Amino acid sequence: MKPWTKESWRGYAISQAPSYPDEAALEAVTDRLEAMPPLIFAGEARSMRKKLAQVVEGKAFLLQGGDCAESFESFSADGIRDTFRVLLQMAVVLTYAGGVPVVKAGRMAGQFAKPRSAPEETKGDASLPVYRGDIVNGYDFDEAARVPDPQRMMTAYAQSAATLNLLRAFAQGGLADLHRVHEWTLAFLSDSPQGDRYRAMADDISRAVDFMTACGIRGATTAAIRETEFFTCHEALLLPFEQAMTRIDSLTGRWYDTSAHFLWIGERTRDLNGAHVNFLRGVENPIGLKCGPTMTPDDLLELIDLLNPGNEPGRLTLMTRMGAQDIERALPALVQAVQKQERQVVWCCDPMHGNTVRSALGMKTRRFDDIHREVRAFFKIVADQGAFPGGLHLEMTGQDVTECTGGAQQITDDNLALRYKTACDPRLNASQALELVFEVANFLERSGENPMAKSA
Ligand code: PEP
Ligand code: CO
Repeated sequence: MKPWTKESWRGYAISQAPSYPDEAALEAVTDRLEAMPPLIFAGEARSMRKKLAQVVEGKAFLLQGGDCAESFESFSADGIRDTFRVLLQMAVVLTYAGGVPVVKAGRMAGQFAKPRSAPEETKGDASLPVYRGDIVNGYDFDEAARVPDPQRMMTAYAQSAATLNLLRAFAQGGLADLHRVHEWTLAFLSDSPQGDRYRAMADDISRAVDFMTACGIRGATTAAIRETEFFTCHEALLLPFEQAMTRIDSLTGRWYDTSAHFLWIGERTRDLNGAHVNFLRGVENPIGLKCGPTMTPDDLLELIDLLNPGNEPGRLTLMTRMGAQDIERALPALVQAVQKQERQVVWCCDPMHGNTVRSALGMKTRRFDDIHREVRAFFKIVADQGAFPGGLHLEMTGQDVTECTGGAQQITDDNLALRYKTACDPRLNASQALELVFEVANFLERSGENPMAKSA
């Protein structure tokens, strides 16, 4: 195998890469990016790795959520705050009802580049290069907009920096204080069944916090009450950008991709001999690998050996995205192989990407029931093999969108168009995300019966 450098991925076959018409312009931008400050710090990535090692042991749970694709146009402080608040609500439900601490990571502050199933999009007689996310080209079906423009990387960098700045302030500046557990509810949720369910739980938590205060355990002195650690993650798809953000950590002399704490390899770019796998294998961040229904146990074991040769817990998260139809057929053999070889991994369920369908009117959607069904099967299959079902990865938003059907609000195919706003895949709205997480808390409580969690 060739030795790793931050540009050695260029010697492997690459898929899903945009072709930039002006090489010199691309290089000018990546040179500028190399001189920009890191977005995250190596010590934070190490902290996340340690927390993920706890997940492997069944002592914590991973929650990842956010947009399918962030966009320049819908960037707003309120949008970031609302998604952050829903993630806090979901985490507190999992911690309180499920009984485990939660490692929180937003698909935020860098989730811009999208893999696509076809290189071209056709409307009527016209075919244009496909939209690959705002960091690459424009969404409008227009020839000029679809030309990959490297300047977009600078805009994505600036938006990521501003988003992270806000997330850090929310996580550490008071909004995440457990005394404010009631304030995380979004206005449109307050009169809904999920809002009621959450309020009842938040009342309990408030009483517990008051009790602790009376005992002398206060937010002013106890960071765990006052603030939270919030990480960022995205698919490491646009490698010129990721390479430019990759730096040596002065403390350890190791390489870190400083564009996010956690980076993952997508289902379409997980080729063992491909550029994406061979880029991420060299950075020390915690990383993820999407595992779809065509992956064989041998594929998986080879990828694990390459990505985590030291078998270190916390380094590698397997993000399964099988689809409710396929999970029972495809997942057991993978978990069994990993268990048999004693590979230390986090098992995380992405119940979104295997369940995308077209509505009667042709819109991309997902049914809440399919998502729920896949999560339920995931918990059972992973626990049956003696491993810990340790995470949930969702496309979701704090906005009151109508993109996925079903759930307690009973969104139907007919009312999808009401508030359908995603730049890419359909997201759960806050009500649907909360509803799902109440279910997951039940599964977690039950998986407390599994031998790993017991020994914790
Ligand atoms: C995604 O997470 O948005 C995605 C494209 O997933 P996958 O690679 O699993 O299809
Ligand atoms: Co998606």
